Amino acid sequence: MSTEFSFRKGTTATGIVDFIAFVADRDTEQVLKHYVLEHAITHAHVAIGSIDDAIAYLLKIERSPLFLLVDLHGSTMPLSDLGRLAEVCEPSVQVVALGERNDVGLFRSLLKLGVRDYLVKPLTVELLNRTVSLADGKINTVVQSRAGKTIVLVGTRGGVGVTTIGLNLARHLSEDTHRRVAYVDLNVYGGAANNMLGIQSNNGLTDVLQNVHRLDPQYVERTLVAKGNRLFVLSSELDYGTPRPFQAGALKRVLEVLRDSFHYVMLDAGNRADPLTGEAFDHASRVFLVADRTVHSSRETLRLLRYIESRDADPSASVLLNNPNAATAGKVQAADFMTIVGRTVRHEVPYEPKAISIAENLGEAPDEKTASGFNQAIVSIASDLTGQHKVAERSLLQKLGLGRH
Ligand SMILES: Nc1ncnc2c1ncn2[C@@H]1O[C@H](COP(=O)(O)OP(=O)(O)OP(=O)(O)O)[C@@H](O)[C@H]1O
Ligand SMILES: [Mg+2]
Repeated sequence: MSTEFSFRKGTTATGIVDFIAFVADRDTEQVLKHYVLEHAITHAHVAIGSIDDAIAYLLKIERSPLFLLVDLHGSTMPLSDLGRLAEVCEPSVQVVALGERNDVGLFRSLLKLGVRDYLVKPLTVELLNRTVSLADGKINTVVQSRAGKTIVLVGTRGGVGVTTIGLNLARHLSEDTHRRVAYVDLNVYGGAANNMLGIQSNNGLTDVLQNVHRLDPQYVERTLVAKGNRLFVLSSELDYGTPRPFQAGALKRVLEVLRDSFHYVMLDAGNRADPLTGEAFDHASRVFLVADRTVHSSRETLRLLRYIESRDADPSASVLLNNPNAATAGKVQAADFMTIVGRTVRHEVPYEPKAISIAENLGEAPDEKTASGFNQAIVSIASDLTGQHKVAERSLLQKLGLGRH
């Protein structure tokens, strides 16, 4: 049984329809109805139904729609079903598939078939807003034309906030800016990333590092753990005392494969002295150095900058000044910090007294309202990465004669 919904009375099954959706469940249908109403899409057809129902409908109408959303739920062979759908669609139709599982292999195959995007349920109006650009008549495409970027995050000391900043940045990039992100926790004995996301390690990182000679995209994809719509985690939690089961130099190949499937490969370098951290610097296009406002961190920043910038890849390194605790007395002032390290602080992240620790223990993102200062800093760092950043503080510091980077 299928119920149909048309925004405008008179939009019949044979009329002009710009937005067609066939979905499997009522909740998704309701979201689509809201979306259509919110944007006053005049030629819409939202119904409960399968890919076969979508095909039957398309065969009936005169003109192909601009947008077509289909649900893969209940489809045992989604790729062949979509192939049949493609035969009855004009190439100009922008198809979005909806599914239950976050599967990077399926995602890639769908993109290859010409599907513009794959959304994992639950569908929300917000997710649709980010995906469909009604004004341009386009899906905000996620197809990558070139390899992604490798970003390394490293701290000047333990507990300085590398994983907190890294994961929130990854979350923002994947959820709000539509980028596909692979988060690699380089601490093979178990970093905090999995706990902070509420997922478990599958020892995928040591698996791929150990098998570099036979890696292909499918192999690497099987070792990733999905979190949310476009965020995937690669990690390991070896037992303490176990020797590292891979050779030096192995990270290079893993990163090459990851860069083909992700816009951003983010490496959480827990330990500065770990050889894997050195390898990460060798293949990074960007390094974020997380420091706190202490004398020790300013000295370590200097030493680390020297180390990073002496590597062959010579990645661009930026300093993030974090305030991971409530201490105020005796802290090094940001201006003094910059004088010591001879480098502008690219972004400062404020102390967030509540929302971060609550979110961390729940494995969720910090509450938007409570953590607004922290979240704003994350948004600035993300726009810096995606190239939309206006470094306001830089010009100010340059005026003061402090800016160099
Ligand atoms: N800006 C901040 N405001 C409040 N708490 C913060 C902030 N940044 C980090 N923290 C807290 O500090 C603690 C340490 O952070 P985190 O684990 O991210 O550091 P790290 O540098 O990754 O540590 P490690 O060296 O163990 O990898 C966490 O409990 C985190 O919630
Ligand atoms: Mg960490």
